[in-house]
Order: sequence, then structure tokens, then C-alpha cells
Amino acid sequence: MKSMHSIDINTVEMTLDIMKYAINRISNNDPELGHPKKEEVLKELAGDTITEEGIGGEYAFNLFKDVFAKATVPVDHPRHLAFVPAAPTKAAVLFDLVTSAASIHGAYWMTGGGGIFCENEAMKWLVSLTGLPEGAFGVFTSGGTSANLSAMIAAREAWRAQNQEHENLKALLITSNGAHSSIKSMAKVIDADIILVDDDDDDDDRLTGYWLKEKIKNLSPHDRKRLFAVVATGGTTNAGIIDDLAGVAQVCEEEKLWFHVDAAYGGGALAAPSVRHLFNGIERADSITIDPHKWMFSPYDCEP
Ligand SMILES: Cc1ncc(COP(=O)(O)O)c(C=O)c1O
Repeated sequence: MKSMHSIDINTVEMTLDIMKYAINRISNNDPELGHPKKEEVLKELAGDTITEEGIGGEYAFNLFKDVFAKATVPVDHPRHLAFVPAAPTKAAVLFDLVTSAASIHGAYWMTGGGGIFCENEAMKWLVSLTGLPEGAFGVFTSGGTSANLSAMIAAREAWRAQNQEHENLKALLITSNGAHSSIKSMAKVIDADIILVDDDDDDDDRLTGYWLKEKIKNLSPHDRKRLFAVVATGGTTNAGIIDDLAGVAQVCEEEKLWFHVDAAYGGGALAAPSVRHLFNGIERADSITIDPHKWMFSPYDCEP
């Protein structure tokens, strides 16, 4: 009888090579700092990689190590100080290997129940940090931009559902000029206008309830009708500033506006008792973006 698990020696060898690479890479706290190269240079170094016969796993892996990896700047390098795409711990990197090997499809409970259960447990913990009321829950998205987009669409739909008149109005939202660029670009995506409150008006450079109220007071009656949401930031990307969330929440409640907090960058601080009080008011939000990927600058020298 033929075994279901016949061993393909090439796959075993490839797996061992890859495991060796992964072990070396994960245990190396000072990875090589690559240099980006021009597309023409990479093309010359790599040659044709999409060929009729295929180039084979070993060749592809060597190309990755010798050419492509060297043309990248690893985010876990101690000198990678720009951008915050992700800062995974070693445990997270290892478990990414495990979940890739397990080939989980998490779209349905029928096929991915075990994985979805784990995701929900993690989400419960994240939601518990915010103090949102019983019943609040979340979803994992591919990043902060898409989380902000989801929240803004939810806000606009809630506003449209309030009054039929809103169907024919171009939506308008208020945020601060310290807000992340994704708020401005996602407003474009949903075809909404945006007003920026100059956070320099405030001594602490924060969007406050006071300045928000002032801005709303000065809107034309038409713009006031179009106003559907306020986006405050829980840790601005450039300066780490946390807006006056309680003050903004108060105004949003009074004015019946959707209150979104973009805590993509700063949300990790919700888990730090020393600064948790700076987020007071976040529990009154209608939606929150938190990006656990951005919680640590470097997996090696910071604690969350
Ligand atoms: C405050 C804030 N919001 C949103 C984003 C966008 O997140 P992403 O790059 O994951 O789309 C960032 C990214 O740095 C951010 O700092």
C-alpha cells in the first residue's frame, strides 16, 4: 500500500536549509543592514526568474539570501529608525512560521475555527484595555490605514442612517493637523471633506474639546449638517501626542458625532499603567484603531 506520507528528500533538504536560515536569522540581534538597489541592478544580478522550466527552490532560496535580502533594510535592525510597519517579537516571528506551515484558512469557523478562536481571544484582551462597554468587539485588519477606513465608513453609514437628508450631502469630518496621513487619504477614498484643527492653538499641541467646540461653532449651517465624525489621535506618529480624548468625547456626545480614536501608533501604551491615564475618554469612542504591530520600536531593546 502506498503511504500517504511519502517522503520527498528534496523537500526535507529544503526544509532543513530554511530552518537553519530561520534559526540563524532569529537569533541574530544585529542583522546585516542591506542597501536598496535600483531595479535594473537587481534585474542584472537576478537574471530571469520566471522561466518555462522554473528555477527550482534551492536556486530561488540562494537568490533570496544573496541578492534580495541584501537589498532590504530589516525592520528589526537597531538602526532602523524610520517607519513603523511592524516590530514583531521573536515569538511572533516563530509562530508565523508555524501558522504558515499549518495552512490555516481563517475565513470561516467551519475551516478555521481553531485559528479564529485564538484571534478572538487576542481581540478580547485588546478590547479590554480600552474600557469600551460590554459587547464591544473588533476585527483584525491588514493595518492602521484599513482600520481607519473601516471606522470612517461605519461612521458615515451610521450618519446616513440617522436622516435621509444625509444621503445627498457630502460628508465632512474634523481631525487635527497632527493626525496620520491615512486619515486624510481615507477621507478622499470615501469622498468626504476634511477640516483640520490646528493643534498648535493648544499649549500642549493637542486636539481638545475646547478647540473642537470652537471649530464646530464657526461652521456654516450647511457644513454643520455635513459633519459626521471627529477623529482624535492616541499617540501622533511624529510626536506621540495624545489628544484630549475625554474633552473630545464630551463634545461628540453633545453634538451627536461619531468619535473615532486613531491609536494605531500609541495604543500599546494602554497596557502601561504609568501612562494609561493619558487615554482617559477612549472608552467613550465609537471606534478605535489599535495596531499591535507598532507597539515596540525594536523587539530587542524595548518592553511593550
Ligand atoms: C497614528 C497612525 N495611524 C495610522 C497609521 C497607518 O498604519 P499602517 O501603516 O499600518 O496602514 C499609522 C502608521 O504609522 C499611524 O502612526
